[in-house]
Amino acid sequence: MLSGEKAQDGGRSATEDAVPAGLKPREFRQNGAATPQRHWLRGDPFATAFFNSLSAIFPQGEAFMVRSMLPWRGKMPPQLDAELRKFVEQEAAHSREHDDMNQAITRAGYDISELEAVIAKLVSRFRGRSALTKLLATACIEHFTAIIAAEILENDWHLEGADQDQLPLWIWHAVEEVEHKAVAYDCFVEAAKDWSAAKRYTLRCAMMLAITASFFVNRTRGQITLLRQDGIGRFAALAGAMRYGFGKGGIGRNILRPWARFFKPGFHPAAKNDHHLIEKGERIFAALQAQQAPAEPAERRKKVRLPKAA
Ligand SMILES: [Fe+2]
Ligand SMILES: [Fe+2]
Repeated sequence: MLSGEKAQDGGRSATEDAVPAGLKPREFRQNGAATPQRHWLRGDPFATAFFNSLSAIFPQGEAFMVRSMLPWRGKMPPQLDAELRKFVEQEAAHSREHDDMNQAITRAGYDISELEAVIAKLVSRFRGRSALTKLLATACIEHFTAIIAAEILENDWHLEGADQDQLPLWIWHAVEEVEHKAVAYDCFVEAAKDWSAAKRYTLRCAMMLAITASFFVNRTRGQITLLRQDGIGRFAALAGAMRYGFGKGGIGRNILRPWARFFKPGFHPAAKNDHHLIEKGERIFAALQAQQAPAEPAERRKKVRLPKAA
């Protein structure tokens, strides 16, 4: 039963200890010239397809989130406004680096154009929608990216056996997703503070259900598209993708409970303290960076470049 403002979308007051002291965009550039093995994750086509299908949508998806946050710059309380700006910086860098990874996936032999067309179409559905609707969508997507990132950092087996050229990108991205997991949500609560708590709760749950359905259907389709290019039949691809995602220890299975937390009336992303995962990821990332010889700066772009608005 809904009973009060704080009970319905939590708040920083209740979770102050778990809110990171500050976001810190981390400088990271991949070796853009590297071409991964076709199955860069343990030689496993299913594991590779899961991560490749995520990477395929990140450049446009994260650019959408950046565009959704930018109109709120200067309209938030000072600390949140500062976090919003760093959030934008982090997401823009993720978008840029996954664009690079997608070129590498393409060089490894995959055609990801169908996956890119699907995300372009999804993003285009928000054209003309209010700034608050886009902000809400971003807050919901961010819950997804945060729980997937936390799962990857918590359980090492997901990325065990990954190609050393690909691994730092995923660890770096996961750390920053966990770190900024509350920013879009807090911005939404602030931007919608004139709504009743019941309206905020109802609309955020409705948006989350829509985003979940789209994410599940399209990521599954994306994996099947890539697995078909490995010569795997449609039904074997679907069965393998489901087994990989929802079998014992699978990412999809393990994020079900964290996903469901979003629907609690008092939900706040920072209520779950993930600081240890940020620290763990930073240690892994530093070790990986130390292992790697300095990358040749082949055609490295100097500035963050985002895909055009769909
Ligand atoms: Fe990101
Ligand atoms: Fe994010």
